[in-house]
Amino acid sequence: MISGKAKVCGIMAYPVEHSFSPLMHNFYAGELGLDFAYVPFKVPEDRVEDAIKGAYALNIAGMNITVPHKQRVIPYLKDLDPAARAIGAVNTLVRVEGGYKGYNTDAPGLWRAMEEAEMTVKGRDCLLIGAGGAAKAAAYVLGSQGAASVTILNRSEGRARELAGEMNRCFGREFMNPLALGDYQKLPDRQWLAVQTTSVGMHPDTGHALVEDKAFYRKISCAVDIVYTPARTRFMALVEEAGGRAFGGLDMLIYQGIQAFELWNPGLRVPSESVEKVRQLMRKELEQ
Ligand code: ATR
Repeated sequence: MISGKAKVCGIMAYPVEHSFSPLMHNFYAGELGLDFAYVPFKVPEDRVEDAIKGAYALNIAGMNITVPHKQRVIPYLKDLDPAARAIGAVNTLVRVEGGYKGYNTDAPGLWRAMEEAEMTVKGRDCLLIGAGGAAKAAAYVLGSQGAASVTILNRSEGRARELAGEMNRCFGREFMNPLALGDYQKLPDRQWLAVQTTSVGMHPDTGHALVEDKAFYRKISCAVDIVYTPARTRFMALVEEAGGRAFGGLDMLIYQGIQAFELWNPGLRVPSESVEKVRQLMRKELEQ
């Protein structure tokens, strides 16, 4: 039940209609018996500042921020978490005195999903596929979890070089290197841990992977694709066919949400049974 004392949160995006966040957060609130409501807000690019000021005036406790606003919100925040600053993107706002503090829960969400899949990053040679916004959060995870090296494979080599440079500066060690897509055969024969962050293979273009060569996949022992539609991407299928383990992006989506929910409700933990129920719910939704 939502009373006059309800804590109100929401998601700011454009478009917002396809978001699963209202379903997830309202489900957790129901499971935990909280007086809490989470609503979608469709905000065009030129109204982001107004929306943040308006949300604060309306006493909104927290907000998720997604495409295309994750960078655009930053100038309008009162405070910024250091990891969100390093990643350069914010997906969660928490109300503080005088405004909102920005966090990035995509990175800890990805890490929690990788941990649950028993993917060890410490001391590993990692392959990061893609160099866009999602790749930045993944690069931060690989760096902060102690990867020995990170090779960034991307269609545009310049973007990969830029990301590698930024992360090498951020972590104070030279361990990230760019690799142009056309040079993928130069990848040394090792047991790579791969994180796929491009939109290639995402619904409705599910028949594609960035690299089709089977020899490439024999070098990958373990991989996560952050795409969650379809549940099994062509990239995952190619990794598995070559004998590696592969995971999709659904758990990252779920755990970034839980991290946000727990930031808005300090002291509360979403029980693992509720996480499992949401996983089943989401699988059903995604099948439709
Ligand atoms: P996001 O925030 O979702 O990461 P983005 O910043 O636009 O979105 O980045 C998209 C990533 O997918 C990039 O690595 C992009 O490669 P480029 O940097 O070369 O553009 C990659 N990508 C998207 N579509 C692609 C395609 N058809 N072929 C190869 N790479 C693609």
